Amino acid sequence: MTARSGPGPDPVGAATAHLADRLGGLEPRLALVLGSGLGGLADRIGGSVRIACSEIPGWPVPSVEGHAGLVVGGRLEGVPVLALGGRAHLYEGHSPARVVLPVRVAARLGAEILFVTNAAGSLHHRWVPGELMLIADHLNLMGANPLVGPPRAAESRWTDMAGCYDAGLRRAVREAARCEGLPLREGVYAGLRGPSYETPAEITMLSRLGADAVGMSTVPEVLTARALGVRCVGVSCLTNHAAGISAAPLRHEEALEAGRRAAERFQRLVVAGVRRMAATELDGCGNSEEAIG
Ligand code: HPA
Repeated sequence: MTARSGPGPDPVGAATAHLADRLGGLEPRLALVLGSGLGGLADRIGGSVRIACSEIPGWPVPSVEGHAGLVVGGRLEGVPVLALGGRAHLYEGHSPARVVLPVRVAARLGAEILFVTNAAGSLHHRWVPGELMLIADHLNLMGANPLVGPPRAAESRWTDMAGCYDAGLRRAVREAARCEGLPLREGVYAGLRGPSYETPAEITMLSRLGADAVGMSTVPEVLTARALGVRCVGVSCLTNHAAGISAAPLRHEEALEAGRRAAERFQRLVVAGVRRMAATELDGCGNSEEAIG
């Protein structure tokens, strides 16, 4: 991946150099964005190097409970991975460029796949808290796009977002869910800036626009990854019914608790998904497809 052109400081270059040094030769092929409640997945990464976000120059430091501020490099199911804990959100006041800095760095370190996870509100009465949803597509309603600004050397400005959630990677996650006996919904994720939750009228609007789930992340990362030619796949943990979908009031603590209850299944799906990708989507990684059944 080429460095950006033009004068001035290069925050992506500085953070990339720092991580490359700390990772001791590990060249990640897959970057995993750990959404709220998925921080525990970092413990399943073998031979890992753990780096606090605060030590990496220019890296956004999270201020949200449930987002461990660690970047972890190592192997998951034989695949060299970079797990990005402590995701930053626009609603914390970070600029779009800072929110997506980890994705730009992961791509420069060689990541070919971005696996994003998040917590989201369900727009369907029958899709209940704790269920997992494979992201089929998204609506960018964040009022921001990290690709705004001068063109960047390695990034396509006129990024084609059709098929931005890669068909082959989605198939791998679906197959992983089936093998693990994990139910998996599939739908459209609407990304809003937050931090307030939506009004019931807004949820009705989102539903009419074609959304199945709503959240406050993911869209900037996927836009950036696609501009860099990185393949994307994403899974949401539905932590609550969105406003007005059920009679229950919306409370952040309850959403966190639902995420905690789903964490074991969520982690199992992500690990099995990576195993499947190693066999079917990443040349030279993992076992053959037959071997994992
Ligand atoms: N709305 C927006 N973001 C969310 C929600 C929600 O209901 N649940 C988890 N993240």
